[in-house]
Amino acid sequence: MPVSNSRVDDLLPCNPDPSVLDMLAKRRSTPLPLLGGPGPDSQTLEHILRIASRVPDHRKVVPWRFLVFEGRDRDIAAGEISKRFAKNNPLAKPEDVQAEGMKFTRAGVVVGLVSSPDMEHKTPVWEQELTVGAVGQNLLLASNASGFAGVWLTGWMATDPHIHQIFGLSKTERFAGFFHIGTSDNVLKERSRPELSAIVSHWRSDGLSASGDL
Ligand SMILES: Cc1cc2nc3c(=O)[nH]c(=O)nc-3n(C[C@H](O)[C@H](O)[C@H](O)COP(=O)(O)O)c2cc1C
Repeated sequence: MPVSNSRVDDLLPCNPDPSVLDMLAKRRSTPLPLLGGPGPDSQTLEHILRIASRVPDHRKVVPWRFLVFEGRDRDIAAGEISKRFAKNNPLAKPEDVQAEGMKFTRAGVVVGLVSSPDMEHKTPVWEQELTVGAVGQNLLLASNASGFAGVWLTGWMATDPHIHQIFGLSKTERFAGFFHIGTSDNVLKERSRPELSAIVSHWRSDGLSASGDL
């Protein structure tokens, strides 16, 4: 996969490109059971993470970081997830315990997106968290445009204090999610999308704000 230079000069205010619009109009997450390897190699992943980091970020707080799970260390992480699941669910069947950890080893690579807000910063934490969400969507899109399928998942492991400790999160950090990035040959079905008429309204100066009149 060719990787463009990380340095970007002479930026334009917009880059009209119908193929990008087409890609955005057709983007879909791939359910984890349909994902496999390979994932991006290290150079491609670096490029993806660099693009993912080009987000609106009020006052350049950089309230996120990436935790990459690959190779043998990822297998060990999966084992820790299984162990924790068994502890949290003492009645779980052994196959369910194993399956829980295997969620982490299905795609080529897992990227943990850590929300890492500066609690004292002038920029409100809410705005910092919105920035992290933008990173997440960029990460998916950059993965897709690099030829990889992916999905953004949280699940119990995203909020479990023991998992936080094992994965090295500080007290103020949280997982925005785990991005499972890999390969899939499956054709995906469309998922229902909101009707614009239900979510768009026009503010009117006469106070009669109307919805459904696009
Ligand atoms: C923060 C966040 C966490 C998510 N966690 C899960 C999850 O744990 N399990 C799940 O099935 N979908 C989860 N999703 C939804 C999927 O990522 C995905 O958006 C959904 O399957 C719809 O697919 P689409 O992206 O093609 O619309 C999450 C989405 C977000 C934004």
